[in-house]
Amino acid sequence: MTEGDRFRDKMIRIWSRARARSRWGPVWAYRALAAGVFGMVLVVGCVDEREVFLPFPLYEDPPSGAAGFLGYSDQDQKLPVCGNCHVGQQAEWEQTAHAGAWATLEESGHSQTFCEGCHTISENGNVTADMAVGWTATSDPRYQDVQCESCHGPGLEHVLNPDNNVTKPIPSILVGTELTNGCGECHQGAHHGFVDEWAQSRHGDAANRPQYREREGCRSCHGGRGALEAWGIDAEYVEKDSTEPFGIVCAVCHDPHDPANSGQLRFPVDDPDIETNLCMKCHQRRAVPDPGGSSRGPHSPQGPLLIGEGVGWQPPNFQYANTRILGTHGTEANQRLCATCHLNAYEVTDAATGDFLLSVKGHSFKPIPCVDAEGIPDATADCTLQERTFASCSTSGCHGSEDAARSAYIVATDRIADLVTELNALLEQVPASAFNSDDEVFTVAEGADFNAGLGEITSSAVHNPFLTEALLTASIQAVRDEYGLPAATNVTLLNLLDPEG
Ligand code: HEC
Ligand code: HEC
Ligand code: HEC
Ligand code: HEC
Ligand code: HEC
Ligand code: HEC
Ligand code: HEC
Ligand code: HEC
Repeated sequence: MTEGDRFRDKMIRIWSRARARSRWGPVWAYRALAAGVFGMVLVVGCVDEREVFLPFPLYEDPPSGAAGFLGYSDQDQKLPVCGNCHVGQQAEWEQTAHAGAWATLEESGHSQTFCEGCHTISENGNVTADMAVGWTATSDPRYQDVQCESCHGPGLEHVLNPDNNVTKPIPSILVGTELTNGCGECHQGAHHGFVDEWAQSRHGDAANRPQYREREGCRSCHGGRGALEAWGIDAEYVEKDSTEPFGIVCAVCHDPHDPANSGQLRFPVDDPDIETNLCMKCHQRRAVPDPGGSSRGPHSPQGPLLIGEGVGWQPPNFQYANTRILGTHGTEANQRLCATCHLNAYEVTDAATGDFLLSVKGHSFKPIPCVDAEGIPDATADCTLQERTFASCSTSGCHGSEDAARSAYIVATDRIADLVTELNALLEQVPASAFNSDDEVFTVAEGADFNAGLGEITSSAVHNPFLTEALLTASIQAVRDEYGLPAATNVTLLNLLDPEG
């Protein structure tokens, strides 16, 4: 008796293809099965309500050499064996790009044998060691597309005995250029190195402040596990209950199943709401001074600064106290907000063949990176401002040319730097007693010092030049008035930067 037969004998002769778009959990589907439900199952979904009566075997026995991978039970319907029970994940996954990966490969006109392992269920992306399994072992069409088992690993043992906790196919979300499972095994090398770029960024760099990744009070933003927890994502993954710190891996920003947001992101990037926007969920630690006199400066103020709300210390009589000051970068004119600039879009030639062009979104998160001889961003290189690419500013349609954007950048950063120099020089003349972070009094000097810190983050001049300038000019004036200091000689306190620039 084959394994497939045993399963069928044990549990079902009739399987209901309950594929309503509902959130019915696997337990329900499995119980219905185990109870030997014959024939009719009433499925009440959130969208439709229907009765399903369709006898068919859950799966054909896998061909020899498949190593426990099951693949599709109904390829035309894009229904992997797993999707029969896990109807929630199924309803989402079937709409993702992964579910169409085989067609993409075939239709590209460049398909060759070595391409196939990443566009199918194979040893790539899961716990299987580097031996041929699934498609690469059998060329059985049931393994086409990036299916559940591409990430989860072989499902046979689990499907035979879903209650066994040991054989549940729990996926890993770790990524690394050396790792043998997770998203990274497919998303690097062949066409373009998403992983390689990500690993150079502070989200991915393993050496970057690992001490904060599990520290209480820091882990909700600095660590991958902490962020998922903070967002209420309690799905099972291999590293969930370990204590090994890890950074902001692919599956923190990307939802493995859900296509609701562009790029299969967990949260949208085009929503200006600070609690909803993916990037702003973390990039908003301290944008205004702590109440109670703390002297600590800004900490990841980029979100509030970009949308011009809840940011900076407002000096007494601040002329814009009741106005929201928004740079163009935070308005409707820039719908993808942070992602427009920080996920630099460019075209690369397929690295493996040199045969065709792919359009990618850079994952070094650098908006104005250095480039190599082919014009491809190189996050590790060091170069002058003139040598950097400002392509994300012009290809997005926002600036007429790279040079125009570069000039605007230089004008704004120079102006902000001058104001910061002036303000810091004034603050040096303020009596030290004005900077007492232990008393309950929040002084003008402490507030102005916070704003100087905001201006010292050079990118503030891009994230919101107009507001940054206004806060600095008003701070300079306030410090002078408060402490009777002389007027400036080398900066004007007029707000020169054009919000439309
Ligand atoms: C016969 C129905 C059935 C099939 C087919 C099935 N599962 Fe499951 N699966 C279950 C049940 C039941 C559980 C336990 C759920 C629980 O304890 O809440 C489960 C648990 C899981 C879990 C752990 C998550 C959790 O909530 O405990 C994962 C991951 C998983 N299945 C993945 C898969 C994958 C991948 C496939 C395809 C290879 C698959 N399943 C096929 C019924 C099934
Ligand atoms: C077996 C290889 C493989 C694994 C493992 C894999 N991917 Fe993919 N991924 C692909 C392929 C191939 C495509 C392109 C599909 C297409 O365009 O038809 C793709 C496309 C994507 C896209 C583009 C979606 C879009 O709408 O354009 C995202 C995002 C993505 N993958 C994220 C992930 C994440 C996150 C993981 C890990 C949780 C992962 N992938 C694991 C092969 C894989
Ligand atoms: C190492 C894994 C891997 C190999 C090998 C591989 N691909 Fe892909 N392919 C991916 C991933 C991951 C994506 C989605 C992300 C991206 O665009 O880089 C993808 C996307 C694509 C796309 C969609 C590109 C787009 O811009 O939407 C095409 C077409 C494609 N692959 C064709 C091929 C061809 C042809 C080969 C062989 C010459 C091949 N792939 C080999 C992993 C691979
Ligand atoms: C609400 C999210 C959030 C929390 C909580 C958080 N951080 Fe951060 N932190 C960030 C972000 C986002 C950055 C990167 C932005 C930047 O460099 O301006 C960052 C950057 C940093 C930096 C680098 C600053 C620099 O100028 O390069 C340090 C150091 C740091 N955090 C320490 C901590 C410590 C220690 C804790 C816990 C006590 C903590 N953070 C809690 C979001 C957070
Ligand atoms: C691109 C990789 C990938 C693909 C494809 C994929 N998953 Fe997952 N799956 C994951 C990861 C990573 C997690 C854990 C993190 C999460 O859910 O956000 C997960 C979690 C799960 C869970 C656990 C949910 C819980 O609440 O504990 C189930 C069940 C599951 N997947 C089933 C499926 C099924 C069924 C399919 C196919 C229809 C599928 N997955 C396709 C990567 C993937
Ligand atoms: C800090 C968040 C973040 C992390 C971490 C992250 N991504 Fe992305 N990714 C994005 C955003 C934002 C987009 C752009 C989505 C859009 O265009 O709407 C994107 C797009 C993509 C796309 C689609 C590219 C295209 O050309 O359309 C792929 C594929 C992808 N990411 C893979 C990965 C992989 C693999 C990893 C891990 C190595 C990863 N991402 C890590 C935020 C992230
Ligand atoms: C889970 C929280 C989190 C999310 C979501 C997140 N970031 Fe970050 N980001 C951080 C932290 C923490 C750091 C700084 C880490 C450090 O320096 O220790 C950082 C660093 C950065 C850096 C500095 C990169 C470098 O290598 O110099 C940029 C730029 C950035 N993030 C942009 C983004 C963008 C754009 C998004 C949305 C697509 C985003 N981040 C989403 C937490 C997050
Ligand atoms: C108009 C383009 C643009 C937009 C929109 C944008 N940034 Fe930036 N960002 C930049 C530039 C330019 C730099 C400076 C990069 C450099 O000096 O290499 C930068 C730098 C950063 C840095 C590095 C640390 C720092 O502050 O100096 C972080 C973190 C960051 N941005 C996060 C974000 C986040 C989060 C968003 C969305 C809330 C965002 N950015 C929106 C262009 C942009």
